[in-house]
Amino acid sequence: MDNILLIGGGGREHAMAAKINESPNCDQLYVCPGNAGTAQLAVNVSLNILDFSSIKSFCVSHAIKMIVVGPEQPLVEGIYDYFEDSDIEVLGPSKKAAQLEGSKSYANQFMAKYGIPTASSKHFTKESLKEGLSYISNHSLPIVLKADGLAAGKGVLIIDNLDEATEAFQEMLSGKFGEASKTVVVEQFLDGIEFSVFVLTDGEKYIILPEAKDYKRIGEGDVGLNTGGMGSISPVPFYDETLQEKVKNQVIDKTIEGIKKEGLDYKGFIFIGLIKVDNEPYVIEYNCRMGDPETESVFPRIQSDVVSLFNAVFDGTLDKQSIQIDPRTASSVFLVSGGYPEKYEKGKAIRFPDSLEDTQIFHAGTTLDQNNTIVTSGGRVIACTALAESMEQALQKSYKLAENTRFEHKYYRKDIGFDL
Ligand code: AMP
Ligand code: GLY
Repeated sequence: MDNILLIGGGGREHAMAAKINESPNCDQLYVCPGNAGTAQLAVNVSLNILDFSSIKSFCVSHAIKMIVVGPEQPLVEGIYDYFEDSDIEVLGPSKKAAQLEGSKSYANQFMAKYGIPTASSKHFTKESLKEGLSYISNHSLPIVLKADGLAAGKGVLIIDNLDEATEAFQEMLSGKFGEASKTVVVEQFLDGIEFSVFVLTDGEKYIILPEAKDYKRIGEGDVGLNTGGMGSISPVPFYDETLQEKVKNQVIDKTIEGIKKEGLDYKGFIFIGLIKVDNEPYVIEYNCRMGDPETESVFPRIQSDVVSLFNAVFDGTLDKQSIQIDPRTASSVFLVSGGYPEKYEKGKAIRFPDSLEDTQIFHAGTTLDQNNTIVTSGGRVIACTALAESMEQALQKSYKLAENTRFEHKYYRKDIGFDL
């Protein structure tokens, strides 16, 4: 039996689960820990995603052949390496390769070495505090300060005043983001429009998945606090052939070449966060996984059997695969709990709308209460995804779903795609 275990429990994982489940090459899908949405199409497994030993026992007793990893943390902590001498395949990079996401200074040195366009930067620790302060005092504004390690998406500060930057730099080195900011990256600010490119690779060959644009701020017009993502659009209208060619030649090919030359074991997704400045692409960050909320508009556009693509990563036959992509536009609008990303309540019953053609509802923060009612269990609750010939038509359907999915204190941005 080809059983698959998918790790994670958000909207990204529900969207991945839906595709994996369509595959004739998947017998039983398990999702750990999953949510109320994945429970409708797979079996949820309640294990800690960082408890690799329990995950392994589960895999052995349930004839799991492949583990697909959604979030970064298990990858950065070495889930790939943990399963290396077993016959269970893990779709994701090794611990060392996951440093491309897990350490921003590692990623920046990698990009410098392989000539990949990115912001100029330097990194500092407590030991090099003095050099850091002097570097900052001569830096142009605004200035970007990044915690080197994983900081749950909160480790980046963009500051347009030298005194504030100096203070924040010192706070970070003194542990503002714990271990993650023991090293701080000081970076040039890039002014442009962001987009996300996704690659599936075995470390030598690769296929390019649909690109997307996500919306991170809580408020309309991209204002207010950062969130885990308020919506996404795929494809990205300004990502034209010229820009695609530049990204392929200057970023993707060089990244794969670097992975090969560094001898990194990388069998999984690379998410390249890019910014377009004067029609030139610059890398803002690497992630060693798919994006959330991008996956909720990227995966519904993949028409090929994703499990065959995953198998090709392990068989070394990725170059013989082609990927069919729905040419239509997918839009995804997130419904969040009122108050998020600050204080919010959970446990609100959710009422779902009638189904609507070419739409999908992906659960993120949902669970079943003791009466088997689907209730909210997080800040980001539901992604409303729709496919249509144009972005406007797709958004119209996403917003119809958004309006008709009901829970107390629901909030969503009504301007997803506004800048496209
Ligand atoms: P990251 O955690 O690296 O994804 O950074 C979070 C966000 O900060 C990015 O999505 C960008 O919006 C912004 N950002 C990061 N680095 C830069 C940069 N060098 N210039 C401008 N904006 C940046
Ligand atoms: N959409 C940004 C991320 O997944 O990190």
